[in-house]
Amino acid sequence: MRTYIITGATSGLGLATARCLAQEPDTKVILAVRDTIRGRRIAAELGQHVEVVELDLSSLDNIDAFLSSWQGNITGLINNAGVQIINETRFTKKERFEETFAVNHLAALKLTMGLLAFLGGGRVLFIGSGTHNPNNRTAIIFGFRGAKFTSIRNCADGLNNTGSIRQLGIDRYATSKFLNMVTTVELARRIPPERVSFFCLDPGIMAGTGLARTAPAPLRFVWAHFLPFAMKFLPDASTPTRSGKAAARIVTSKALEKQTGTIFSFDCQPSTRVWKSVFDAEIGRRVVDDSLNLLTGKQHH
Ligand SMILES: NC(=O)c1ccc[n+]([C@@H]2O[C@H](COP(=O)([O-])OP(=O)(O)OC[C@H]3O[C@@H](n4cnc5c(N)ncnc54)[C@H](OP(=O)(O)O)[C@@H]3O)[C@@H](O)[C@H]2O)c1
Repeated sequence: MRTYIITGATSGLGLATARCLAQEPDTKVILAVRDTIRGRRIAAELGQHVEVVELDLSSLDNIDAFLSSWQGNITGLINNAGVQIINETRFTKKERFEETFAVNHLAALKLTMGLLAFLGGGRVLFIGSGTHNPNNRTAIIFGFRGAKFTSIRNCADGLNNTGSIRQLGIDRYATSKFLNMVTTVELARRIPPERVSFFCLDPGIMAGTGLARTAPAPLRFVWAHFLPFAMKFLPDASTPTRSGKAAARIVTSKALEKQTGTIFSFDCQPSTRVWKSVFDAEIGRRVVDDSLNLLTGKQHH
């Protein structure tokens, strides 16, 4: 039996990916979610080899509890869960880390490192976004200005940029996605593929998902009801179903197994729209080392 863990599998891309993987033969799918009631409803719908485990990525204690209870080999880990917070600055309850950074980047790294021993020969998939790239024209239309990375400490403190609360929120989101992409490339540098392979998917714009939940009501309406149709013909536009298929393919396909460190587009081809800083070895070293130090308490306020 192959085992896949998907975080944030209760909606959008995570749910679509879980749906694809649940249809694979000899496959167990673990929905690692914070809303276990919803998770169990989805698991019942997806089939008998789908299980639910509680995982709130905004709590390092909760991640530790998940890690210490985990047993068994893992074929693939999909770090899908993500938030975009554009109406306020929110900090995690205990460590007081800015939440976009904490959930999207730090939690994904902690989970990955904590599960490495179970992932022998397996794959890890991070989810990036075209918003990380300051030169991405579609993202610019939506107000993105690319990642604004200065240091891990500044990200944790929510200090990495300036602007309106909305601008801060989308800058933090773009930065967190940049960190997901940098982490993929850096872990692939550090860890040989015989041990674990690392991939990233830029899923394109998937209008209609829960990602816009902190946006004002009119914008949420447009995101949910208008954009899925209006955007169909843009080159960056995808759907959760399409990108979910790509995510499932990246963690299962034999043909892609040798491509550790690759950032894929939702057509399952290596993305040609990645900002060059993602591949900067010095940034990669700082991002992973400083994040690991933050997690082990070696970097203080
Ligand atoms: N939509 C897009 O256009 C787009 C574009 C590029 C990249 N992405 C990326 O795609 C991924 C999925 O996003 P989506 O668009 O599918 O959004 P979504 O529908 O909002 O799904 C996000 C998932 O993350 C979960 N989550 C949020 N905070 C969590 C926490 N603290 N602990 C555990 N789970 C948590 C949510 O669970 P709850 O339901 O319990 O909140 C939900 O299941 C994200 O990484 C996002 O950055 C999306």
